[in-house]
Amino acid sequence: MNEQQIKELVKKALDMRNFSYTPYSHFNVGAALLTADDKIYTGCNIENASYTPTNCAERTAFFKAVSEGARTFKAIAIAGGPEGAKELDYCPPCGVCRQVMSEFCDDDFVIIVARSEEDYKVCTLPESLPDRFGPNDLIKGKFQK
Ligand code: THU
Repeated sequence: MNEQQIKELVKKALDMRNFSYTPYSHFNVGAALLTADDKIYTGCNIENASYTPTNCAERTAFFKAVSEGARTFKAIAIAGGPEGAKELDYCPPCGVCRQVMSEFCDDDFVIIVARSEEDYKVCTLPESLPDRFGPNDLIKGKFQK
């Protein structure tokens, strides 16, 4: 993944904030997810009057991708902040979204949190979620002596 691809992902994540449905928090998050074969799936957060059904931008992107057959991923860019804010802070993915990433992504999966197209931070999934529980942990016998 080169810098050009990172910038494209970041731009799409920033743009996706325009589609956020956030009548309760007014906190708009956008995400752009890059597949192993360089397809991009985007997502925004979608809130609900009953609060708990709210779906984060990252999971929207993952569920769109997985529901269309994508299974291997290289990176996700995330941009979030209050609706209408002139400047954004870095918006780290929530724990539930990190767990969903954990289901589908290897240790080299890259998480990009962006304030703008020029200002972003990059880390790997295990840096973001150390000692993660994933599909391999369910392998029969792993917990047996
Ligand atoms: N949110 C996301 O979409 N992604 C994150 O990583 C953090 C939180 C959303 C959920 C909710 O709609 C709003 O931001 C406030 O928590």
